[in-house]
Amino acid sequence: MFSWLKKRKKSDTVTKEKVKNISNFDDKIAKEILAQIKQEYGLDYSKQEYITMRKLERFALKHEIYDFSRLHSLINSTPLAKEQLINMLTVGETYFYREVGHFKILAELMCEKNITRVLCAPSSSGEEAYSILIYIYENYNKNNNLHVTGIDVNSLSIESAKKGCFSKRSVSFLSDAILNKYFTNSDLKYCINTSFKRNVTFQQQNIFDASLQELEKFDVIFCRNMLIYFNDVQKKEAIANLRALLNPEGILFIGHADISFEPDGFIKVSSLSGSYFKKV
Ligand SMILES: C[S@@+](CC[C@H](N)C(=O)[O-])C[C@H]1O[C@@H](n2cnc3c(N)ncnc32)[C@H](O)[C@@H]1O
Repeated sequence: MFSWLKKRKKSDTVTKEKVKNISNFDDKIAKEILAQIKQEYGLDYSKQEYITMRKLERFALKHEIYDFSRLHSLINSTPLAKEQLINMLTVGETYFYREVGHFKILAELMCEKNITRVLCAPSSSGEEAYSILIYIYENYNKNNNLHVTGIDVNSLSIESAKKGCFSKRSVSFLSDAILNKYFTNSDLKYCINTSFKRNVTFQQQNIFDASLQELEKFDVIFCRNMLIYFNDVQKKEAIANLRALLNPEGILFIGHADISFEPDGFIKVSSLSGSYFKKV
C-alpha cells in the first residue's frame, strides 16, 4: 500500500549533488497541480503561489520524486499520495475555546429550541468539537442530547481528533477546574476523558465532495477559520453545500474573518456575544 513511499537502500541514497542534476521542477506543472487542488478542495494558494510551489517541491523530494510531472501523475493515480499532499498543505491552527462568544449563543439558543445535532466543518484536530460539548455541559445542562460531528479534509487531524490528546498550548484558555474535570494529564498531554468521547464523532471529509450530502442533517453548523483559504466563488459554494446540510431554520456560525458578504439563503442575527446566520 505504501509502495510509493518505499525507502531506498543505503547504497541507493541520492546525494545532494545528484538531486540537483536529476531534479526538473517545472513551475508550469506545479501551477497545474495547484489549479487542481483549488478545483477539488477550494484551497486557493494564488497569493502564496511561489512558497506553495516550494512546499510541493520539498514534498516531492522527501518522497524521492524529482519532477512535478511525476508528482502530478502520482497524486492522480495514488489516493494515499494525494491524501498526504493535502495533509501537508492543510495544517491549520486551532485551540480550545476559540471565539467563545459563538458557544454562548449556542447555549442561549438551546434554551429556546431543540438542538441535538451540531457539525464542525472543519474540526481540524478536534479542539472546537470538544469545546462545544464542554461549554454546553458547563453552561447549559449536562443532560442534553447534544452530539457533535467533526469533519476535516486532513486525515492526520482527524486521527488526532479521535485520539483526543492535546498540547498544553492548545488547552491554555481552559480553567484548571475544566482541565481536571474533562481531561487526564500525562506526559505533557491533556487527554479528553473516554466517557466524554461518546458524544462526538469525527470523519475525514472534503466539504466540496458530493459525499458530504450523505451526512444526516444538522441543527447547527460551525464553519470557522476555513473559508479564509478560499476565494469568494468557493466560499459561496462551500456555504451552499453546508446550507443543504442544515435542517429548516438551522443555524450557521462563520468565523469573524471568514467572509465579507452576506451568504445567500440566510438572515443574519446579531447579539452582544456575536452574530450567526439563520437558514431561511
Ligand atoms: C484553521 S483550521 C480551523 C479549525 C477550527 N474550525 C477552528 O476554528 O479552530 C482550518 C481547517 O480547514 C480544513 N480544510 C481546508 N479545506 C478543507 C476542505 N475542502 N474540506 C474540509 N476541510 C478543509 C483544514 O484541513 C484545516 O484543518
